[in-house]
Amino acid sequence: PKASLTINPNFAIGAVDRRLFGSFVEHLGRAVYDGIYEPGHPTADEEGFRGDVLELVRELGVSTIRYPGGNFVSGFKWEDSVGPREQRPTRLDLAWHSTETNEVGLHEFASWLRKAESELMLAVNLGTRGVEEALDLLEYTNVPSGSTLSDQRVANGQVEPLAVKMWCLGNEMDGPWQLGHRNADDYGKLASMTAKAMRQLDDGLELVVCGSSNRTMPTFGAWERTVLEHTYDDIDLISCHAYWAENNIDLGSFLAAGYDMDQMIEEVVATADSVKAARKSDKTINISFDEWNVWDINRYQEQDAVTGVGTWPKAPRLLEDSYTVVDAVVVGSLLISLLNHADRVSSASLAQLVNVIAPIMTEPGGAVWKQTTFFPFAVTSRLAGATALTSRLVSDTYETSAYGTVKIVDAAVTTDSEGTSVFLVNRSTTDASTVTLDIAALGDVSVVEAVSIFDDDIHAANTVSDPSRVSLRTITTADITNGTLTIELPPVSWTALRLA
Ligand code: AHR
Repeated sequence: PKASLTINPNFAIGAVDRRLFGSFVEHLGRAVYDGIYEPGHPTADEEGFRGDVLELVRELGVSTIRYPGGNFVSGFKWEDSVGPREQRPTRLDLAWHSTETNEVGLHEFASWLRKAESELMLAVNLGTRGVEEALDLLEYTNVPSGSTLSDQRVANGQVEPLAVKMWCLGNEMDGPWQLGHRNADDYGKLASMTAKAMRQLDDGLELVVCGSSNRTMPTFGAWERTVLEHTYDDIDLISCHAYWAENNIDLGSFLAAGYDMDQMIEEVVATADSVKAARKSDKTINISFDEWNVWDINRYQEQDAVTGVGTWPKAPRLLEDSYTVVDAVVVGSLLISLLNHADRVSSASLAQLVNVIAPIMTEPGGAVWKQTTFFPFAVTSRLAGATALTSRLVSDTYETSAYGTVKIVDAAVTTDSEGTSVFLVNRSTTDASTVTLDIAALGDVSVVEAVSIFDDDIHAANTVSDPSRVSLRTITTADITNGTLTIELPPVSWTALRLA
């Protein structure tokens, strides 16, 4: 197969918001306990945070982290997670049938984030709670001092306000599995009231209203329209969530996950813009794609099956998916989709970060290792420039059972004053693809970095016993002649090129 693209620094899509490279830590399984936090681990610091995990989180290049859920947040009482540890209540987490000790709470997580060099994106509980509790939490986090809750924060050791800017108004409220799930009208009214109230307290917030839990939800589209009709003037962003897995579709369709993400983004944009037109508004609502990843629900069987009330474990091994080469290629292609929509996607969160459907895995008392998906995320976060460019991509196509005709090669291009980055995926399961890039408009550049993910065994994975089975490969086949770069992409591969 063949593909060609034309790179011109004047063909801008839009600015790349660094928040596209966000992630997500939920109180779920071993994400927090035995994940980021394990007092007693040889690398743990004075607060009990694992130094080896922090090092990899920084290497991953994560800009913002959504917290504390997820489904967990819809039953969460934030007050449980602050104040003296020995007085914090132990609660049952209905979302994941686990026991939450609240040993790690808001202050501890904020402290961990400073060490991780990342920013907090906080979700409020609109499942079992409402406007008042959201306001209380906002007062606690953002008011400098002089009120009961802000003074309580100061007394609890955090003198400076946490100054949280981005807030999610609940989580997946369209999902029947969600505590406090309600219809779009009821959620839209609650979200509107909550947003207005939060802005009355702090007018510097960026508020994310819940969109759909995935594109196949029966309410997808109608949910966004109704929720936005209620909240358009009150919020800034609408969320998208989506997960893909190889096991429920054929390989060719799985490799086209980025195409599916493109469709979801464009459909939500169209819906938001139609509400804008009907309201004659000059405000544009963009997307926070705040849960996305490969997640194969069947691949990791939970070890601690819940047997009844009173037996819910602490930090069980839940959703500990093991990622393959093809999963990494798909993750790379999903990042390509996000970059190609940089004009309308302002923020995104890889779900999740440690142990739970995560790029980083740990063993208690033992090793930390990188899953295959670590690599495309870390490289894209590091190499993505300030501006996304259209690539004028022309590619051979193939037929997928899930999405019809899809391009075999997909690409995203970014640029900044230091150079240009090109991200490529070859979705062919059998053949290499030859890609020619017209780079004449870039002037005299050379390839300063070229790395790929591919393998003869597309289902190879990194494991605790073989943590380095899969890693980045350096590519030396990119050739530049007379303003044209030619590169051969192996079957089922993801590649990043840096030109400077
Ligand atoms: O990321 C795991 C779960 O997936 C989240 O808790 C929920 O929001 C989604 O359904």
